[in-house]
Amino acid sequence: MVEEAGIELELLEGVFYNPRMRINRDITEAFVVKHGIKSYADIMAASGIRGFRIARHGVETRLNDKSIRAYATILWNSQRLGLNVNATRMDAKEFLLEYKGIEFIDLDPFGTPAPYLPAVVEYKPKYLGVTATDTANLCGKYPHASRRLYFVENFKTPFCHEVGIRILLYAIAREAARNDMIIEPLVSYSYRHHMRVIVRLIRASSTAIDRMLTNEIGRLRFDPDTYRINISEGIAGSGIGPIRIGDIGNPFSIEPLIGYKRNSEETNKILRMLLIDSRAPIGYYDLHEIARIRKESPVSKRKLLEKAREMGIFLSETHFSPRAVKGVSVDAVIEVIEALRRQGGP
Ligand SMILES: C[S@@+](CC[C@H](N)C(=O)[O-])C[C@H]1O[C@@H](n2cnc3c(N)ncnc32)[C@H](O)[C@@H]1O
Repeated sequence: MVEEAGIELELLEGVFYNPRMRINRDITEAFVVKHGIKSYADIMAASGIRGFRIARHGVETRLNDKSIRAYATILWNSQRLGLNVNATRMDAKEFLLEYKGIEFIDLDPFGTPAPYLPAVVEYKPKYLGVTATDTANLCGKYPHASRRLYFVENFKTPFCHEVGIRILLYAIAREAARNDMIIEPLVSYSYRHHMRVIVRLIRASSTAIDRMLTNEIGRLRFDPDTYRINISEGIAGSGIGPIRIGDIGNPFSIEPLIGYKRNSEETNKILRMLLIDSRAPIGYYDLHEIARIRKESPVSKRKLLEKAREMGIFLSETHFSPRAVKGVSVDAVIEVIEALRRQGGP
């Protein structure tokens, strides 16, 4: 028996349930409730926990999994809990062909979502949630895997979790463009071993699609000796990319989710930081890495943020890393570090 957010589940042996994904499900439930979503499907539902959390609000919910044990677990628990869900045991792609018109499609596979992106985008849901646990690929640890799965050039940077999110958003935007749509990222985050995005898919004219591909997609160059980050617009060019260079979330979509009654404290903490991360300049500055480059010990993040505020320079905490800050450039971060040092001490 496991318990999550007020729901007790009985699991058949071998059925996947990961308590560390709670933040992912908290945000999904809050999103569906706060944005008034009417129909929802988890096309790879495993234990069904994500969908049960949603079905209890009267949202029309479909839970699909190709595993017979998962299917049986979903049927058994929906009956036990008295929740009205439609359970199916199909391959996810067949499911998408069979059941049309669902407002929110959730894709949460083992590992990479890349092979399923064409099918979920072609379905044209209004909202699409995608979870990726192939963080090593998205973080540039295996450049050949980034190329093969996401068609991007990638290498490891000290801000690779944000790069990973931006690659995932590019991969979705590319499929959207092929289907006469653009994307609006609403909530994106990276947490431990997963990355998660929720986007709105919007039917668009070819002019609007071209605008997205030229203004919101681009390339990133990073100099590891200076921590300088340079961004250029458009698909062509060298460096990491193509990646999404536009916003990765919308504070107006995120704000209503903060403090939702089923959220854990950790979920609320991350959501608060997303308000700024969503629209902040690209990249975050790892204070240990900057200290290594400057051959000095790292400064205290708290004191650095205080000093930045005093100096009127934008620096902020970021959900991407507890030892990094967001800022407009490495020069801005260094300016505050130097001011702090002049004042005496880290
Ligand atoms: C990571 S788990 C899903 C977790 C679940 N969404 C949650 O929130 O707890 C992935 C599930 O996908 C199922 N699966 C894998 N490939 C599938 C496919 N092609 N079609 C349908 N289900 C699939 C597996 O059986 C597994 O239960």
